[in-house]
Amino acid sequence: MKYKPADKIQDLQYFGEFGGVNPSISDSSTYTFLSAKTMFDTFEGNAEGCYLYSRHSSPSNLYLGQALAAMESTETANVSASGMGAISTTLLQLCKSGDHVVSSRTIYGGTYALLKNFFPGLGISTSFVDITDLKQVEAAITKDTKVLYCESVSNPLLEVADLPELSKIAKKHNIPLVVDNTFSPLSITPTKLGTDIVIHSLTKFINGSSDTVGGVVCGTQDFIDSLRNVNDGAGMLLGPTMDSLRAASILKNMRTLHIRVQKHSENALYLAEKFEELGLKTVYPGLKSHPSHELFKSLMNETYGFGGMLTIDAGSKEKANELMELMQERNLGYLAVSLGFYKTLFSAPGSSTSSEISEEEQKEMGLTEGLIRFSIGLDNDIERTFEMMKKCMEETGVL
Ligand SMILES: Cc1ncc(COP(=O)(O)O)c(C=O)c1O
Repeated sequence: MKYKPADKIQDLQYFGEFGGVNPSISDSSTYTFLSAKTMFDTFEGNAEGCYLYSRHSSPSNLYLGQALAAMESTETANVSASGMGAISTTLLQLCKSGDHVVSSRTIYGGTYALLKNFFPGLGISTSFVDITDLKQVEAAITKDTKVLYCESVSNPLLEVADLPELSKIAKKHNIPLVVDNTFSPLSITPTKLGTDIVIHSLTKFINGSSDTVGGVVCGTQDFIDSLRNVNDGAGMLLGPTMDSLRAASILKNMRTLHIRVQKHSENALYLAEKFEELGLKTVYPGLKSHPSHELFKSLMNETYGFGGMLTIDAGSKEKANELMELMQERNLGYLAVSLGFYKTLFSAPGSSTSSEISEEEQKEMGLTEGLIRFSIGLDNDIERTFEMMKKCMEETGVL
């Protein structure tokens, strides 16, 4: 039985303060107490249903967290001001000086830079591995390893992590498997495949409007309580707090997530098949030619497809740039980073979202100069889009 995350979101029921169909937005940074004793208990974490201060938690943030926990089938969740706010606080909660992380080498450039450049200054080291090579993953684990980290579908190479097998390795070594599921919301439910902690950049598909950044950590009550602890919680002390107004707007956008993901996936599959037919080197997990196509099928929840992300290789950096500029001119999308928007977004990861990764390392992991990453939009007539894209490819000599 596959998980049905959209049903879980649908089943949540909220009433606003005055019976509104949307929960009231908590527009306060601090909260009153009727007794000094309750304030003390709240500080100690013992007063159920009481709010203290909005960096700690707020009703609007808790509502959004509840919906995300339902989606990811975890006990609870903690929202944050950005995806990086969720990633950095989670890793800092789990790792202290002297500890070690085993991470996939194909991850979002910002996460890579955090692990590679920032964490060594705190005494935390990382081994980067080919996440599809399970032997290599296990061999990298040492007695100091505290986290096994990867993305379910990686940015930008769209490698698929074998979560059930990775979770076996993590369990054997008694470390948590932490998975960034930003590229595959609804399609993959990592906790159903053995993952302990799931992270999202809400900035992307989940919010879907490209109007804010946001993040979330979904996990056990114990772990989320530790993140929020007023004495030693990274989520509390480093302060990456989401604003209540934003939490309310993201929650509203989540209600259409299942419809959007289906359309993104449908359009991306159509284009990927057509691009491949034209002879372009196309990477999309929904294509039979994708090395992890069968694995993705075995992991995915039905209905939501293989996601909205695909890549093509335009042959060179110059050709990639020319093609992206022309596609933008013809109103086929925007030359912009990020993903999950209603319009198609395209960028060349080598010189943008993955530029933190050195050229040599990019080459080693198969991130070519001419690679274009597409976040396919919600285009109503994808056949028309394809015909126009094909024309752009012919005019720029990509085809
Ligand atoms: C897979 C993935 N994880 C995390 C992030 C970081 O999220 P944010 O930009 O919301 O901090 C990104 C951003 O591009 C991403 O693509």
